[in-house]
Amino acid sequence: MTVKVDFPATHFHSGAAVDGVALLTLDRPEALNALDVQTMQELVEGLERLDSDADCRCVVITGAGDRAFAAGADIKEMAEATPVTLGIANSFARWERIRSVRVPIIAAVRGFALGGGCELAMACDMIIASDDAVFGQPEIKIGVMPGAGGTQRLTRALGKAKAMEMILTGSNLSAREAEARGLVTRVVAREETLSAALALAGEIAALPPLAVRAAKEAVNRAYELSLEAGLEFERRNFFLLFASDDQKEGMRAFIEKRRPEWKGR
Ligand code: HXC
Repeated sequence: MTVKVDFPATHFHSGAAVDGVALLTLDRPEALNALDVQTMQELVEGLERLDSDADCRCVVITGAGDRAFAAGADIKEMAEATPVTLGIANSFARWERIRSVRVPIIAAVRGFALGGGCELAMACDMIIASDDAVFGQPEIKIGVMPGAGGTQRLTRALGKAKAMEMILTGSNLSAREAEARGLVTRVVAREETLSAALALAGEIAALPPLAVRAAKEAVNRAYELSLEAGLEFERRNFFLLFASDDQKEGMRAFIEKRRPEWKGR
């Protein structure tokens, strides 16, 4: 196994379970958690299993060891590939499957998030980074270019000028720069990275899941649709939530000055 699944996740320090939160750990520290086919397969299967488990309300992905989230696709495995073998394997379809996951995903990034590792972090919904995290798309230095979303997501996050520089030179971005430029949600001390990500996940997991999923879906549409179509999508999801028990419960609880009890219906 190269991906460890903990559900419910246990809190890093206290050992207590974090309700509704799963932790997926990329577990190839000897290769800086490079994303080989097996790891990607286990990651996607794990995410899909959790996505269809009603008890799972938020997922955190992190890397084992203290050096990397993931240092990219596995270069040793990829070195002899041809367009034909890449096409036949169709392994990049796994990245589309990650994009289809409805439960929110938070990347807890310590150390290197390079190439496919940076692309994986960006495919998540939020990134909590350690102060020594390093983001980059160094593919150009090994004769290729980003292939799992880097040219698109980095450019949307940072703007063309900085993304172009990073992708054409293979230069890296520090955690602080990434935070200042809006790539990451928050930078925390290295030893607090996982607990901060789990705490954020726990906060989301305690909220009404249908609304959380509908909101995630609508925010992601902001990348893809015109403002008009995005606003229409948002309004539809907003209206749809009025068919849920949780909307009635949430609003009644507010009026009755009590804590709501979410049913996920
Ligand atoms: C396979 C990798 C790897 C990778 C590191 N390792 N990155 N193996 N694929 N992407 C292995 C090394 O071979 C080495 O194994 C061990 O991990 C430790 O790495 P070192 O290089 O010895 O560590 P260090 O000198 O500290 O350098 C760290 C590093 C460097 C700067 C992160 O490892 C590096 O540049 N890695 C490659 C980064 C990269 O180019 N990523 C993009 C890949 S292409 P041994 O056996 O020697 O101990 C990509 C395309 C995505 O991601 C397309 C879509 C999926």
